[in-house]
Amino acid sequence: MDIVVIGLGYVGLIDAVILAGYHQVAGYDNNRDKIQSLQKGEPVLNEPGLSTLMAKNAGHLFFSFNPSDCIPGKAVALIAVDTPESQNGSADLTHFYDSLDNIAKYGDRDMTVIIRSTVPVGTNRLAQQYLNNHGHCHFTVISHPEFLSQGQAVSGIQKPYRLVFGIPEGASKNVINKLYAFYRGKKIPFIYTRPESAELIKYASNNFLALKISYINEIARLAEKIGADVTEVAAAMGLDPRIGPSFLNAGLGYGGSCFPKDTKALNWLADKKHAPSETLKATIKVNQEQPLLFAEKIATHFGGTLSGKKIAILGLAFKGETTDVRNSQAYPLIERLLELKAEVVAYDRSAIGQFRKKAPQNSRLAYSDELFAAMKGADAVVIANDARELRNLKAADFVAAMEKPVVFDGRNIYKLKDMISIEYNSIGR
Ligand code: UDX
Repeated sequence: MDIVVIGLGYVGLIDAVILAGYHQVAGYDNNRDKIQSLQKGEPVLNEPGLSTLMAKNAGHLFFSFNPSDCIPGKAVALIAVDTPESQNGSADLTHFYDSLDNIAKYGDRDMTVIIRSTVPVGTNRLAQQYLNNHGHCHFTVISHPEFLSQGQAVSGIQKPYRLVFGIPEGASKNVINKLYAFYRGKKIPFIYTRPESAELIKYASNNFLALKISYINEIARLAEKIGADVTEVAAAMGLDPRIGPSFLNAGLGYGGSCFPKDTKALNWLADKKHAPSETLKATIKVNQEQPLLFAEKIATHFGGTLSGKKIAILGLAFKGETTDVRNSQAYPLIERLLELKAEVVAYDRSAIGQFRKKAPQNSRLAYSDELFAAMKGADAVVIANDARELRNLKAADFVAAMEKPVVFDGRNIYKLKDMISIEYNSIGR
């Protein structure tokens, strides 16, 4: 099949590269620099497996920043543009409607438009009306939400837990069956629903994972007060298949491009529809409090003020093995530490450039791209994400770098027994 993918961010680029293994794919994005890099064969994203697959499928991939190069002649379009959080918490659909306008303008044959972007419930139906009102041909819009997790995006799409399709009444499944013929025989559930259900499945899934994280963070707060260990609690809870072990790691809370935005968007929608979600409101509140409480804990350790204390923050990306700093919990953590008068040195292996752009301007905030230099002379080291190089640190490394080693582990990445030789604080244990 001839396919166009519109929006080459995380989801769009990975979709394009995977689909090019089986189809002819044109990728459109309005970011010229990105397209120029992709045209040179540079994968742009640091995602395991992506660069190899991109090289392998290069013969079936074409990239352009000109929609007229990409859209005409195509029977299938995937829209994967970003839908960022707007000021009132709802999703900003500017880029989404730009994509519809391009499809309406350049689409020259009947088309199936597959929506991968996370959009408010009801948008798929509106998009179908919009295209059929503005375009020259007949358009069928299918909601096909993505569930990719950074770091496992390529493997995740090769073996998804399920594929969800929200199709309008009477629409054929033929295009989906052809597009995803390569999944046949792999026992992957294809779930067909009405469009509104598909849209809600995406939000409800992400929000449930966020809820699990906030729930375990609340349990961690209690565990600390009563002398329990939240990692023991979570491990035993997770053995019950009705609960499951994942997304029960207590820590500084969730960040990234999905959970913070999607929790707020669904909360906004639930309020608007007069079906308010108390669990969602609590999920968001607990997550906002988590880094602030951790900063207070650090301050309490030093007698209530951090004036004159050098605090090294290790890991600025929202999670390990990425340079993505969107909604990283390191931001509110650092802001609070600065309010508490700390001297902060922020370290990340590769995300400093991105982080700085939105970080507070403060003479007490410095950066280091050398791990041991950041720790040297610090009064306390704070672990802010779960990067592999941080996981690999041993108590002896803190002893070597610091005069009096004090560690605040905001991701519970070390075993208590491995840190008994130093002053070690973590979350909920
Ligand atoms: C997430 C979802 O997993 C994915 O299905 C969705 O489509 C997009 O959002 P991603 O943003 O890549 O993917 O990150 P994820 O690995 O889910 O982690 C999100 C945040 O939660 C990170 O900040 C992580 O540190 C935090 N987290 C995760 C926890 O604090 N505890 C956990 O147990 C798991």
